[in-house]
Amino acid sequence: MTKGVIRSIREFVVIVRFDDSSPDIGEILIAENAENSILLVETLLPDGTAICLNVRSEQTIQKGMAVVRTGKGIEIPIGPQTIGRIFDALGQPLDGLPSLMDDPNVKTKNIFKLPSHNSNFTPTKPEILETGIKVIDFLSPFVKGRKIGIIGGAGVGKTVLTMELIYNIAKSGAGLSFFTGIGERIREGHELYETLKERDLLKNTCMFFGQMNENPVQRALVGISSVSLAEYFRDEEGKDILFFADNMYRYVQARNELSTILSQIPSEGGYEPTIFSDVKVLQDRLSSSDKGSITAVQTIYVPADDLSDPAVQMIQHELDSTIVLSREVAEQGIRPAVDLLRTSSSLLSPDIVGERHYVLSVQVQALLQKYESLRGIIAIIGENELSPVDRADYAKARKLIEFFSQKMHVTEDLNGETGQSFTREETLAGVEEIIV
Ligand SMILES: Nc1ncnc2c1ncn2[C@@H]1O[C@H](COP(=O)(O)OP(=O)(O)OP(=O)(O)O)[C@@H](O)[C@H]1O
Ligand SMILES: [Mg+2]
Repeated sequence: MTKGVIRSIREFVVIVRFDDSSPDIGEILIAENAENSILLVETLLPDGTAICLNVRSEQTIQKGMAVVRTGKGIEIPIGPQTIGRIFDALGQPLDGLPSLMDDPNVKTKNIFKLPSHNSNFTPTKPEILETGIKVIDFLSPFVKGRKIGIIGGAGVGKTVLTMELIYNIAKSGAGLSFFTGIGERIREGHELYETLKERDLLKNTCMFFGQMNENPVQRALVGISSVSLAEYFRDEEGKDILFFADNMYRYVQARNELSTILSQIPSEGGYEPTIFSDVKVLQDRLSSSDKGSITAVQTIYVPADDLSDPAVQMIQHELDSTIVLSREVAEQGIRPAVDLLRTSSSLLSPDIVGERHYVLSVQVQALLQKYESLRGIIAIIGENELSPVDRADYAKARKLIEFFSQKMHVTEDLNGETGQSFTREETLAGVEEIIV
């Protein structure tokens, strides 16, 4: 195959010059060093120069070194053997078990190759997936094939809530769950693995990690690798996938770090100029086809608790529902620390959740709005000065807030309190009892 020569190196970015045939974008080049470093072609210049990313960030590549074209992109293993396993962005195992890449019976797939099946397919009949978490099933219901975001600042409970959702859904045996750790703590992913293993739930799960210890190239790739395997299960095995990613903001951040090294001029809010297309590339693939579905749950870190951050807004724009977690609520000891007024869903409509649920949700939102304004009044004049109607509504709202608080299974070891799950029917009946 054709060879190129490394012209310059700047952190993870390697410039390779080809004299005859230039490589394709997304192609893997192999350097002729001891580790056979993998260079991923990111951009091509008109003169045949390839701007590449040093995927494993090995330090032994040097200026003047030869690189060989492979004609291939990043390939990861696919097939039933991947279930219950943990992979990195390159499809290599992180669970100490043998690599599937060396197994002749395992097929592989290029992570950048888009599926040929009709994706962005919306099933005619919406199907609700119960999560067992009252506040979510009531205010931000999971609908098969849709996207849900869990948004909040540092330490407000995004990961705990995600783990609880995976746990509840894996337990219910519905479909196949994917967990993708992007730029977060390594420990958290391993804790999830151990919990699922202990309770024999790995048979419904695949995991990918590109955590904070990894370089930005792998943090930017891991979501794409993971969705690529999810697409295989959706289209080739007709499965319904629940795709969890913690944290989608870290994907944007990784792309941003790469962009800085590539010396691109930042756009709005200090983010990279291609932030919009980078977010779209991943979000568009988190979709359903006529074979199966992907329901995506993504956490989104909010820098400095500022919901107007451009990256946060851009990801939020892609979602059908957003569960907002707030520091103020967490400080009151309410778990999950959901900001009931800011949490919203375009799926709360009578044709999806039914007339009863819809009407209740409108009543609850009105009551919570009223509670917010009454809180301001009470701070000035005191609760005793309220009219009897206002006082009754205020009390109902307080009861609702308490009602939506619930113990999680995944924190049982942490606080010794037994986790709880509720059916949607129990949740609706509970709300009715309070407000009617
Ligand atoms: N539902 C819950 N029940 C009990 N404790 C909780 C709950 N949610 C969060 N916590 C406590 O808050 C801590 C932080 O939660 P978590 O790690 O989920 O936050 P996060 O939003 O993911 O933070 P980061 O932005 O750092 O990733 C947990 O370690 C736990 O102690
Ligand atoms: Mg977290």
